Amino acid sequence: MKNEIKVVVTGAAGQIGYSLIPRLIDGNTFGDKTVNLSLVEIPQVVSKLEGLAMELDDSYFPNLGTIDYTDNFSEAADGADWFLLVGSIPRGIVYNGKKIEERSDLLQINGGIFVDQGKAIGEFGNENAKILVVGNPANTNALIGRKAANNSSQTWMAMTMLDSNRAKSMLAKKLSCNVSEIKKMIIWGNHSPTMYPDFENALKDNQSVANLIEDTNWIDSHASSATSAAKAALDTVIACENETSSDDCFSAAVYSDGAYDVPEGIMCGFPLMTTPSGEIEIIRDLTLSDNARSRLSLSVDELLSEREAVKDLL
Ligand code: NAI
Repeated sequence: MKNEIKVVVTGAAGQIGYSLIPRLIDGNTFGDKTVNLSLVEIPQVVSKLEGLAMELDDSYFPNLGTIDYTDNFSEAADGADWFLLVGSIPRGIVYNGKKIEERSDLLQINGGIFVDQGKAIGEFGNENAKILVVGNPANTNALIGRKAANNSSQTWMAMTMLDSNRAKSMLAKKLSCNVSEIKKMIIWGNHSPTMYPDFENALKDNQSVANLIEDTNWIDSHASSATSAAKAALDTVIACENETSSDDCFSAAVYSDGAYDVPEGIMCGFPLMTTPSGEIEIIRDLTLSDNARSRLSLSVDELLSEREAVKDLL
């Protein structure tokens, strides 16, 4: 296995980027591999990355290889193994003279970004590259990017780990235990308020947490912070880089192939495992109750309508 890895991060001058980037090279996320960083920003902001690159150099990270920063995504993508696509245009911003409030506008603008980035990843990224989309609307951005990349050996994911980490933390508080004692915390569907956090399959001491707590309706998906989002992105990378233990799974959205009767062709949150050879696979043998299936179908319907809204980009 090669002992060097190239990682591209977009939105590198943003809040999540600032918390995420140093931790890619601290020896925890990629073990003892040398990490070559390629940081990407929009032209108006790219010069800010000079300061970040200097800070990283000054911080003495033995695992840091090279640092490049650019506004040219294709150049950054060349030979990259991992892509953390954080950059996107947030809701509320004025873009081309218009305040972006509607989800449909957000889908269109960010979708356009992911067409270009997807093409470049398919063409210039490594054959086995893994791509984690963090920028919202993450599932549909990932769908657009994956389609544009048109490279079946690469693995596209959208992040739901923040929702999963938050659910574990809330459960641990309710059950007065450590977060590490909660296993198989699956987030099904979209990274949006329609997501379905699955307490029936989540386990503590091999028992369903749904049986251990009475009120399962208290997860709120709205609040998020740059630190917890960055930690969630790192946790997703670590989950993909290491074989999944047989008593656990991890959460991210991947391309649906009909598993659990989710229609093909959307990026949907599923229970995942990393195999000993490093493949990311959907765990297919879990049982979903009628209630779970109806919650999942609400989120799937939302993903189908998002896909419809960007069909010109697919
Ligand atoms: P931010 O606004 O601080 O940073 C975003 C950065 O992306 C900006 O510096 C901007 O210049 C850059 N950017 C925009 N378009 C770009 C492009 N085409 N190429 C490269 N860079 C580009 O935002 P923050 O807090 O870092 O969040 C980033 C995204 O992550 C947002 O879309 C947010 O909604 C999403 N998010 C997703 C979560 C998830 O669980 N999937 C959790 C938390 C945030």
